[in-house]
Amino acid sequence: MKVMVVGGGGREHALCWKLKGSQSVSEVFCAPGNPGIARDARCVNVGAEDIDGLMELALAEKPDLVVVGPEVPLVLGLGNQLRAEGFPVFGPDKAAANLEGSKSFSKRLMHEASVPTARFEVHVDVEEAIETIRAWGAPIVVKASGLAAGKGVIVAQTEKEAIDAVRDMLSGNSFGEAGSQVVIEEFLTGEEASCLFIVSGDTILPLASSQDHKALLDGDKGPNTGGMGAYSPAPCVTEAIANEVLETVAHPIINALKKKGAEFIGILYAGVMLTEDGPKALEFNVRFGDPECQPLMSRLKSDLGEVLLAAANKKLDGVELEWHEGTALCVVVSSDGYPASFDKGQSIGGLDAVEAAGTTVFHAGTAEKDGNIINAGGRVLGVTAVAPTVKEAQQTVYSALEKLDWPGGFYRRDIGYRAVAREAS
Ligand SMILES: Nc1ncnc2c1ncn2[C@@H]1O[C@H](COP(=O)(O)OP(=O)(O)O)[C@@H](O)[C@H]1O
Ligand SMILES: [Mg+2]
Repeated sequence: MKVMVVGGGGREHALCWKLKGSQSVSEVFCAPGNPGIARDARCVNVGAEDIDGLMELALAEKPDLVVVGPEVPLVLGLGNQLRAEGFPVFGPDKAAANLEGSKSFSKRLMHEASVPTARFEVHVDVEEAIETIRAWGAPIVVKASGLAAGKGVIVAQTEKEAIDAVRDMLSGNSFGEAGSQVVIEEFLTGEEASCLFIVSGDTILPLASSQDHKALLDGDKGPNTGGMGAYSPAPCVTEAIANEVLETVAHPIINALKKKGAEFIGILYAGVMLTEDGPKALEFNVRFGDPECQPLMSRLKSDLGEVLLAAANKKLDGVELEWHEGTALCVVVSSDGYPASFDKGQSIGGLDAVEAAGTTVFHAGTAEKDGNIINAGGRVLGVTAVAPTVKEAQQTVYSALEKLDWPGGFYRRDIGYRAVAREAS
């Protein structure tokens, strides 16, 4: 079959790479793709948020399956439009994508469905929000309700910090429409994990567990980023915890959506905090995590095209997933300066040598200029290896990275440290 992939980051590179290796797939094209994706798929220069352009492309190319990588086109209703034209789509319709597109909707639905989650209130009024902050005290969490590309959450250590965040969101302009509602949440402590499920109607198929590192610096310090590395499996997610998340989080939320008339087809990504009182949902995303997708695709043995087509056609029941044993670990190389400002256009060398040392290099913010790969975004590469142990996967990636010739590249030196410690004990 012919598959269309929407997006152009590391996640989409991992998806295209895996689809290209699928028996069931004869052709993959990607909009807009990137120079790394171009090795695995035909790239077509249509932006991932250009809904009209993507519809035109689909109508011209007639793919047998469309896989939508990022959340924005889903929240904009790309799934609805494609389905209306009869295309099988892996990715939810707009109403179901609201689970990620609106944190207030999502939290209210969690509450209705009795999904364990942090206590919360939704506010549109600055003074009322401040009253709640003063009543609950710090630490406390303030979230812009709408899509904010990972920048809309403030984990405030002081009441002042929380109040400033609320003011910034509700009366400032930093978040636009996304900040017109805020969610105030109780602060939870514990280890965080990503629990992803392939969902198709009533069928929910768990993927292997994974964990990412959101902080910029070693030791999980420094500012939040889109993710500086990830690995799968996550040893903190035992089988019992995985089952608990399936039963107390995934099934109830999908049922609650269905009761509202929104059927879910695609990835349900539950960000969970493993607290002393059990796993609690922090949020939902409606697509693969980036960078979690890179290690997950590296470990997946099953034919990805077949699985995603089955989900898109509501024939997922009975499908099982097979995984490579061992651990897959991905280290993200970013442009030095990210998540603040950085210089673009630096030439990146040594990529073949990095891969020859036993890794797969997934491209994110890269571009091509005069035959050279250059940096064109904040997160640039996802260097990934699979090995029998976390320690070995980590060593493979880091020794391969010594071959990278890019003085302006930055990466953490400790991706997977928690899993390595667990493995050792
Ligand atoms: N209630 C909470 N208690 C403690 N930390 C939280 C809480 N909610 C979110 N966080 C932290 O903030 C991060 C981002 O929050 P999340 O809800 O996942 O929003 P987004 O991914 O859209 O930025 C989480 O990964 C987690 O580290
Ligand atoms: Mg999150």
